[in-house]
Amino acid sequence: MEILHISAECYPVAKVGGLGDVVGALPKYQHQLGSIAKVVVPAYRTKYYDTHEFDVVHQAGMWLGHDWYHFNVLKERSNELGFDLYLVDIPGLLDTPGVYGYPNDTERFLAFQIAVLDWVNEWQHQPDVIHCHDHHTGLIPFLMSYGYKYPRLKEVPSVLTIHNAQYQGQFGWDKLYLIPSFDLWKSGLLDWRGAINPLAAAIKCAWRVTTVSPGYLEELYSAANGLESLISQERQKTVGILNGIDTLVWDPATDPMLTLNYNEDTLEKGKEENKQALCERFGLDTALPLISFIGRLVGEKGADLLPEIIDRSLHELPGEVNFLVLGSGDPHVEWSLQQTREEVSYGFNVHIGYNEALSHQIYAGSDFLLMPSRVEPCGLNQLYALRYGTIPMVRSTGGLKDTVIDFGDKDGVGIRFNQAGVWDACYSVKRAIELYNDAKHLREIRLRGMHIDHSWSSSAQHYLDVYSSLK
Ligand code: ADP
Ligand code: GLC
Repeated sequence: MEILHISAECYPVAKVGGLGDVVGALPKYQHQLGSIAKVVVPAYRTKYYDTHEFDVVHQAGMWLGHDWYHFNVLKERSNELGFDLYLVDIPGLLDTPGVYGYPNDTERFLAFQIAVLDWVNEWQHQPDVIHCHDHHTGLIPFLMSYGYKYPRLKEVPSVLTIHNAQYQGQFGWDKLYLIPSFDLWKSGLLDWRGAINPLAAAIKCAWRVTTVSPGYLEELYSAANGLESLISQERQKTVGILNGIDTLVWDPATDPMLTLNYNEDTLEKGKEENKQALCERFGLDTALPLISFIGRLVGEKGADLLPEIIDRSLHELPGEVNFLVLGSGDPHVEWSLQQTREEVSYGFNVHIGYNEALSHQIYAGSDFLLMPSRVEPCGLNQLYALRYGTIPMVRSTGGLKDTVIDFGDKDGVGIRFNQAGVWDACYSVKRAIELYNDAKHLREIRLRGMHIDHSWSSSAQHYLDVYSSLK
């Protein structure tokens, strides 16, 4: 079976969050299961682009409204990722250092989708399935079915994975002229509440719709940022498949980004050395439990709650706990975290920015990982934490609920709390400190978490089963 994944991110080529991790790992595991999995992403000017060699496999041009763009499809030469990697290079649109956040993102991702479809439509054969990820590729299922330019793709099954329904990529009907011509009777399929909504269009047009955890799918029927009724209406084609992690990249025994590698037998020593390096770097006390947060500093992640959680915990429990935050995002949250660091003279530090190597060191060197998320479709951080013997402290929502059992319950591996609020999170900080001070129990919980197999093996097969059901 041949699968073409189309995405805005793919680790290590371009990553902003978990979408990159998933698209960098799932195809590799599908390949191992005997399928041919290919990935196509934009050719942003990232470090990966600058340091790898590519062959041009397709050259063409396209109209985006009234503007003409040349584009190239490049194939990475060494095949080092374990699947075929293709980059779509559109000078003037996609040759940016970053992935998102440009004023012309609508045009950029529209052009990306058109280029991919123009190219695939010319293949000698058709892939068995086209797998789209999130709204950046959401117009593809629609155009495959109703675009006049793509008759050869009409019968190819399409699958949409919703990684995050908060982001839908809406734009006004005044930009309709940017979309390649299609059967206008079908315009309604593009519409959601008076705008062109790529995520909604994909939910309507894809043959199957998956979400990245079963728990998140259940939540979407009642909370999907305005798409609840649509998701309920399309319920029969939805399925929740839990994300896995790339255990080749995320392995404390081999991870080159750690101060000291460790496994279950050398857990204490390994965590101690990594914690020490981290605490020295950030001026924290190694003897105290270290609670960290890694992630986008946005409301979805509950990042705005962090300053108060940290401030209150340090006041109520002076000298009992340390906090460390790595992230970037909302400027106000960034500012208030920096402000909190100035105000509390000890016990907290923050690194504003994106830093892959530091994130690995934090997973390894922390005792707990705090995730007070309001919305968490799956969450990979808690899975990495578990694998590194770090205890996740999570709000019970979406994928967090599906993957973390509270240590007070049978087979518990973490700490759970119900409300995305300061009080609940602070209470879980107290529980974390108590657990930390009970060395035997702490070790037992850590080892239990490390033992769990969260690799992609079973979920990758689940996706293959979904594709097979579409034939
Ligand atoms: P989301 O995709 O919603 O951001 P996930 O939990 O699925 O959340 O994935 C987040 C991924 O991004 C993880 O690999 C995490 O380690 C990484 N990450 C997030 N913020 C940063 C950062 N500031 N520096 C390095 N890695 C980060
Ligand atoms: C999204 C979600 C996150 C999920 C990731 C990968 O960014 O916010 O919860 O883990 O996609 O599927």
